[in-house]
Amino acid sequence: MNPFEFSSVGKIIFGRGKIALLGELARGLGSVALLIHSGDDPGKGGPVDRATASLSAAGVPVFFHRQRGEPKVADVDAALAVARQNHCDVLIGLGGGSAIDAAKATAGLLTNGGQCLDYMEVIGKGQKITRPAAPWIAVPTTAGTGAEVTKNAVIGSPEHKFKASIRSEHLLARVALVDADLGESVPAEVRAASGMDAICQLIESFTSTGATPMSDAVAMRGLELAMGFRTELDAKTKRDERETMAYAALLSGIALANAGLGAVHGFAAPIGANFPVPHGVVCARLLPAVVAANIESLFETSPQNPVLGRYLWMGQTVPLKFGPGNDKALVNYLHASVAELQIPGLSTFGLLDEHIPHMVSLAKKSSSMKYNPVVLADDVLANILRSAL
Ligand SMILES: [Fe+2]
Repeated sequence: MNPFEFSSVGKIIFGRGKIALLGELARGLGSVALLIHSGDDPGKGGPVDRATASLSAAGVPVFFHRQRGEPKVADVDAALAVARQNHCDVLIGLGGGSAIDAAKATAGLLTNGGQCLDYMEVIGKGQKITRPAAPWIAVPTTAGTGAEVTKNAVIGSPEHKFKASIRSEHLLARVALVDADLGESVPAEVRAASGMDAICQLIESFTSTGATPMSDAVAMRGLELAMGFRTELDAKTKRDERETMAYAALLSGIALANAGLGAVHGFAAPIGANFPVPHGVVCARLLPAVVAANIESLFETSPQNPVLGRYLWMGQTVPLKFGPGNDKALVNYLHASVAELQIPGLSTFGLLDEHIPHMVSLAKKSSSMKYNPVVLADDVLANILRSAL
């Protein structure tokens, strides 16, 4: 067996109603909290109010910073200013991956100094985070990104028209608090796109060149759960199914943080930075074509590559109606998922044929692309993107 390393957050608390523990957890980590949240505002009876009630019951003063949309360099620097001004020493990221990544980056900068761009890969100085982040708690409300257990914060830079990561094991949350009941009010289209992001992350980490025996164990269980429940991602989603997807998303985050991703996420960074398209939508639309292209390319260039056996296993994991348990069943299943969940095409967000060459050249520079199981030629990448428009 190949040697490997594996790391994750110090503690995971999973279960309905566990948001009630937030105040006690925060009190154990600091004295003044900064709550970085997306979605609802305080006073609307949603997750922010539940979090605030728990903090207040534990006697923890809290300041708020709302993260609107996916985090940008300026958002992180603004949250950092609020934290410094109010002497916040424990952070909470509450919401989808956007709020969680904003909290992750802010916690890291709070103890490491400097500005957001100093630490960003690809477009920034790429300085190392050398000190442990300020203690922070990740509380996801959507089941998708797995950002609660990842060690990178994805930040957009409008100036560079690119999204890139700040990455370090020092950024891992002290606690990931996953309460599926917080997802009650998440709109159906967000739930669908987030669920497809989780499935994409599980597939990409399982087929990544960085996959390890431990990440495989996590990814395979996540795939069994998520692909079996995929049809439940629609508007009729019930409590149990929501909890299953919250668990699958958690597993996807643990797997990707240890294995890396692939071509879908390689595209997601530049597309998300240049067009107003949600991350889960980009991933869902690209995933079937990337999987098909990877399989075809592997058969042509290295038919003995064990990753082909992994695609076959996934084909045996999807419901039988998609085919007789082979890699084609997997591709059929992914196409059907995108259609049934009515994931919109990328042209809806302004991405047109004329943008394809530039997006391909940017995607090739992305950190996720190097983990794709096979190097895809430019024309193959262009065709993949064309199929997602
Ligand atoms: Fe993702």
